[in-house]
Amino acid sequence: MRLIAGWAIVWMLAGAGWGLASEQSSSKSLSSPAPAEQTNHFARAPYVQLATPNSIVVVWRTEGPMDPVVRYGRSVDHLDQVSTAAVTRVSLTTNKTELARLTKVHPELFRLPKLHSAPFDLYQYEVRLTGLSPDTRYYYGVFDGRRRLTEAEGSYHFVTHPVVGTDRPARIWVVGDSGTRREIQYNVHSAMTNFVAQDGRPLDLYLHVGDMAYNRGRDVEFQTRFFDAYEPTLRHTVCWAAMGNHEGFTSKGTNGVGPYYDAYVLPTRGEAGGLASGTEAYYSFDYGRVHFICLDSHDLDRKPTGLMARWLKMDLERTKQDWIIAYWHHPPYTKGSHDSDREKQLVEMRTHIMPILESGGVDLVLTGHSHIYERSMLIDGAYATPTVAEGVVLDDREGDPAKDGPYRKSAGLTPNHGDIQIVAGHGGTTLRRKGTIPFMRKTIVEWGSVIIDVDGETMHGTMINQFAEERDSFAIVKRGEVRHQRLYNPWQPQNWKPPKAPGEDPGPEPPEDFVTVIPKFSDWTYLAGEDPEGKWTELKYDTSDWKLGAAPFGYEYKESRTVLDDMRGNYTRIYLRHEFEIEHADHLAEIGLMINFDDAFIAYLNGHEVARKGVGKGAGRKAEEIKSHDALRYQYFPLKEFEKYLKDGINVLAIEGHNAGLDSHDFLMDPFLVIED
Ligand SMILES: [Fe+2]
Repeated sequence: MRLIAGWAIVWMLAGAGWGLASEQSSSKSLSSPAPAEQTNHFARAPYVQLATPNSIVVVWRTEGPMDPVVRYGRSVDHLDQVSTAAVTRVSLTTNKTELARLTKVHPELFRLPKLHSAPFDLYQYEVRLTGLSPDTRYYYGVFDGRRRLTEAEGSYHFVTHPVVGTDRPARIWVVGDSGTRREIQYNVHSAMTNFVAQDGRPLDLYLHVGDMAYNRGRDVEFQTRFFDAYEPTLRHTVCWAAMGNHEGFTSKGTNGVGPYYDAYVLPTRGEAGGLASGTEAYYSFDYGRVHFICLDSHDLDRKPTGLMARWLKMDLERTKQDWIIAYWHHPPYTKGSHDSDREKQLVEMRTHIMPILESGGVDLVLTGHSHIYERSMLIDGAYATPTVAEGVVLDDREGDPAKDGPYRKSAGLTPNHGDIQIVAGHGGTTLRRKGTIPFMRKTIVEWGSVIIDVDGETMHGTMINQFAEERDSFAIVKRGEVRHQRLYNPWQPQNWKPPKAPGEDPGPEPPEDFVTVIPKFSDWTYLAGEDPEGKWTELKYDTSDWKLGAAPFGYEYKESRTVLDDMRGNYTRIYLRHEFEIEHADHLAEIGLMINFDDAFIAYLNGHEVARKGVGKGAGRKAEEIKSHDALRYQYFPLKEFEKYLKDGINVLAIEGHNAGLDSHDFLMDPFLVIED
């Protein structure tokens, strides 16, 4: 099945688009075939998706078109079966003249589904292998017509799913918030590889709980921060993904479009078990006696009346499995880098979705988003805000089979019989802890991942750190009939306080991973030497008679870019305004002002006061009790109750800067605005 033969060469000669393709791959030469040892034929190396008991999909990308063929068989050197059943997606030039020409010469190109935002001239092939035997290992090779592109070696293999309902052990790797391309992400991956090699039990499934492609889930970020990083695992183990908020910048659960949806082939029709969801945004599937449910906590309706919750109820009613594992991005319970008592998606997943899952008998909930490892005791019914432990813990022990023994549940699925919550946002980005969820048995601020083993009546969870050391271990055994009592005075973790730096209290720290929304040295509109009339802190205020100047504003401080050399002896206040744009205001965990100042200031967000330092009372010309302060370093001020005032689209930050006296010998206002990455 050769598509548009020779077209790539024509395009290359025309000089359009070719050089824009990914650096990591060599372009396919149509005239001189490369020898098989030269492995870099792919713009995205082959990986497997959507395994079922009888089928699987092999996916890869090349620059320019090819003749996609997958050969497969039961041994490495006997690939006796073949599939060419490819879905081809393309990424075309945006050059209008070139597009017009292509429309005439190669109209067939325009009938192919498009990649959302891949570099031009990339082709994605998704070849479905069908008629496979269940629970069987196959080896495969990717070919361009007759030319082999993958090396003839054993790592290109896959194992089909067992028949649904078969009692077959499952080993699951769980990773979250990993897509940074930092060394740590690679360490966490190799730690898993070493761990499973040591006990000789390979993975069956890989669950990613989201944020796999920082910072905005763009196509190129998927390539470098997900596919390149996990390539050795992805070629033989299916990653069943859940979308994170960072992927949500470019991919939408509402229409299933974006680099995330290009990257994964997910079930929509119950292909791998479970009830058809009709969307890749949320879905379920089965592996042996385990039912898996993946939800989109980011950009879909989370209410009980929403489509997702209604599908979830029906899916739970139908399943006859022994175990239910549910996973998504935003944790219902966390005090890591995020706070489940404060943030909308987290609160809603807790109050709307957890009751449905628990009445369906869920055993384990896996999430990320919060950059930490947190693992609960056996809980049920914790829907209140703020989260408390009293009356929701069913078993307050560690559940460690090597210490105090596993948690116990009745055999099969029982409504509201307790579940374990795991937040696994520790896969590769900066870690953070804000506090303690009172029913978390383990809260560990270390990088790592989680391995879940389900074998018959036992589920065993292990958190391994980046050195493959076991840092947490728990198990659930489901046997006979077990009765729990709700504990009204359960074991409690020690209350955690943020560590204090020695010496003077430095005040709040900015998020370790922040991005600036108003950069340093930005141009601000400002008013100096007079006080504004009316509601000058509001977005719609008319500043046409204000001036424009670059921060920092001041005098006597060398770093001043807008020098206020008329300020001393004449006036003590200046007024600054800067607009900025926010895409998903209700997804923001934190926004704060970084400011180096002398002497005092008040900051406003869209007309509401959100920070104040050194101004005793009043504001503007009525400000009193100005304390003097030297500008020595940037200090961080989280904007108070920003979630009430921040909105999607254009916002305005306004700052009034005060000098302690008319004859003060210096003044500085050097602000910039940051949000948590
Ligand atoms: Fe996240």
